[in-house]
Amino acid sequence: MRQQAEERARERKNRPPGTRPGAPRPGAPRSYGPRPPGAGRYAPRDVGPRTPRYTGAPRPAGPPRHTGGPYRPAGPGRPRQTEGRPPSARGARPSGGYARDDRERQGGAPFARPERRPLKPFRTGVQSAGEGPPRPSPARLEPPLQRLITALNGYQESAALLAAHELGFFPEILRQPQIAADVARRLGTDPRGTEILLDAVVALGVLHRHGATYVLPREFAPYLVPGHDGDATGMVEWAHELYGMWGDLARAVREGSPRLRLTGDALLEGDPARVRRYIRAVHTVSREAAPRVAELAPLLPGAALLDVGGGSGIFAAEYARRTPELKATLLDLPPTIEVAREILRVEGVEDLVTFYPGDYRTDPFPGPVDAVLLSNVLQTESEETAGIVLRKAWEALRPGGTLLIHGIMPDSQATPSPAAALFAVRMFLVFDMGNAWNADKVGEWLARERFAVRATRSLGSPFQSKLIIASRLE
Ligand SMILES: C[S@@+](CC[C@H](N)C(=O)[O-])C[C@H]1O[C@@H](n2cnc3c(N)ncnc32)[C@H](O)[C@@H]1O
Repeated sequence: MRQQAEERARERKNRPPGTRPGAPRPGAPRSYGPRPPGAGRYAPRDVGPRTPRYTGAPRPAGPPRHTGGPYRPAGPGRPRQTEGRPPSARGARPSGGYARDDRERQGGAPFARPERRPLKPFRTGVQSAGEGPPRPSPARLEPPLQRLITALNGYQESAALLAAHELGFFPEILRQPQIAADVARRLGTDPRGTEILLDAVVALGVLHRHGATYVLPREFAPYLVPGHDGDATGMVEWAHELYGMWGDLARAVREGSPRLRLTGDALLEGDPARVRRYIRAVHTVSREAAPRVAELAPLLPGAALLDVGGGSGIFAAEYARRTPELKATLLDLPPTIEVAREILRVEGVEDLVTFYPGDYRTDPFPGPVDAVLLSNVLQTESEETAGIVLRKAWEALRPGGTLLIHGIMPDSQATPSPAAALFAVRMFLVFDMGNAWNADKVGEWLARERFAVRATRSLGSPFQSKLIIASRLE
């Protein structure tokens, strides 16, 4: 017996790698069919997404969980994954060894653990290529009550920040770091409410507290204190205006109409103060996105750029600032041009841009130009108006000229991210036909209007937007 065992061991040792009986030959395609009895007990099969683990509720009685795909009952040729293990108090353990064995924990000899294979990436929405219906996205790992509490209380963060802004806490604390009682005395607010609100803003990470003294970190000051650094407080003021509109969302959906119209006609006929608040709000993000866009798609010295629906004109100004001899023209509605002049003056770049009042739906574009920029414009318009604007861009461009489309264009997928889905709601609330058009849809429009997409780039954090770089075809 002993001699036979020694011979078998010697044979195993001398066998070339990959020649184990039953093992696939090196280079042979991997088999995904049923495994022969006893082969590869622990090899998980890649059969789709794993069921997310829910740790907060007792597991229903039934088959044991495992890590390699949907449950398959043990049977001939598919030994149970718990085979060879002693039963524990909680029943069978999953394979892959993410729970320590009872005997080992109690100081006994450890069981030999099978080698773990790396798991395949978590796939959603597909089975294997082209097979079967799409699978639903995996459920959130959060318990349902937690998810609801988080979503239902989301407005409280906005309310706290907006109240602190409205009461003038930020300029006061930037002027002089101070305790809550002093803030309340200077601003005429209730001392107890002031301290509670200041602590909430500290908890949100926007103020700091050193002992009892509140401090506004320098990096927040441009967005919260007017005139601190150029013009960047528009976003917080605009959020204040939109806050009430979101409260009226049900009515907007019932009636199918925006609560605060910002479409071209409304800007032309509406309250100039509102146009100013709108354009200053967009400018807060655009003044930081503009350098990123210009880095991703630099233009040649001496090029002519037309920025259509250019808003504050900060993209045109940024290109002019970094490109020698570049001629930048801003086309926008007259009320917006007024605001753009004011903002660019505060930013110190008014001289870099030529202003061209016009309506992109009805007026011809000035040309010929080497590049046309459409930033955050298509998402405010219907498919039909987007087509009109793209056709005019084609006409204004020189052959081979560059079209830059910048904006929030979610990936086309069955379940959009919360940010993308809520962006679409925001477009619905303020524009007649605005939408979160996805990049594939915009690509279709471009092909139809004789443009070739050269590249699509995400701007990356903190922006949600993308840049499509396209060329005019003949
Ligand atoms: C969301 S803002 C984008 C501003 C700028 N491109 C940016 O990204 O910062 C949309 C711009 O389109 C302009 N606009 C809307 N309707 C227009 C029209 N019919 N003709 C020209 N401009 C228009 C608005 O005045 C506004 O400046």
